[in-house]
Amino acid sequence: MKKYSIVAALLIVIAIGVISSTPADPSSKNGYTNLKVLPRDISTKQLQSIMIDDFEDGLGVGCNFCHAEAKGSHKLDYASDAKPEKEIARAMMRMTVKVNSKYFKARHAMIGDKSLIVTCTTCHNGKPRPESEGGE
Ligand code: HEC
Ligand code: HEC
Repeated sequence: MKKYSIVAALLIVIAIGVISSTPADPSSKNGYTNLKVLPRDISTKQLQSIMIDDFEDGLGVGCNFCHAEAKGSHKLDYASDAKPEKEIARAMMRMTVKVNSKYFKARHAMIGDKSLIVTCTTCHNGKPRPESEGGE
């Protein structure tokens, strides 16, 4: 009898695991409409941590450095691509992922992953434009 109840308990645990790990619908509840580099079904928590820790702190700028204001409003329209800095940031994201996967063997790396060796901060170190030695 005892054996069977252990098996039953394990099956319940496995069933709960399967149900709770069912992937989110990629047509996504996060409400983001213009992600071209980050996964479109990224969680709000992950996206915010990238925008704040990697981008804002990494470059020492505010959200409005890359994000344009909505027309007739002082609110930022995060989905808008009106500011060139946003597209530069996308190119930098692609470059950073490539450097990690090609030269540091951080496979399947994405911006925000703990496995990244080179991040925005590695070069930017809290400044929007990294300095080059001896160039001045
Ligand atoms: C260095 C530039 C940069 C900074 C600073 C920045 N972002 Fe972003 N943000 C981006 C880029 C680039 C994307 C699009 C990523 C992609 O295409 O996968 C994005 C996307 C977003 C989106 C998703 C919009 C959508 O619907 O597609 C939100 C929300 C957002 N950012 C919020 C913020 C907030 C809040 C801050 C400040 C805390 C911030 N960002 C700071 C570059 C930046
Ligand atoms: C290998 C070093 C390196 C990495 C990693 C890097 N950047 Fe840069 N980035 C630079 C350099 C150098 C410049 C300045 C280029 C110039 O002066 O023309 C720059 C410029 C920028 C600019 C334009 C700033 C301006 O004033 O116009 C943005 C935006 C930017 N980077 C975002 C990012 C983001 C976001 C990341 C992380 C996803 C990142 N960068 C990772 C080296 C790097």
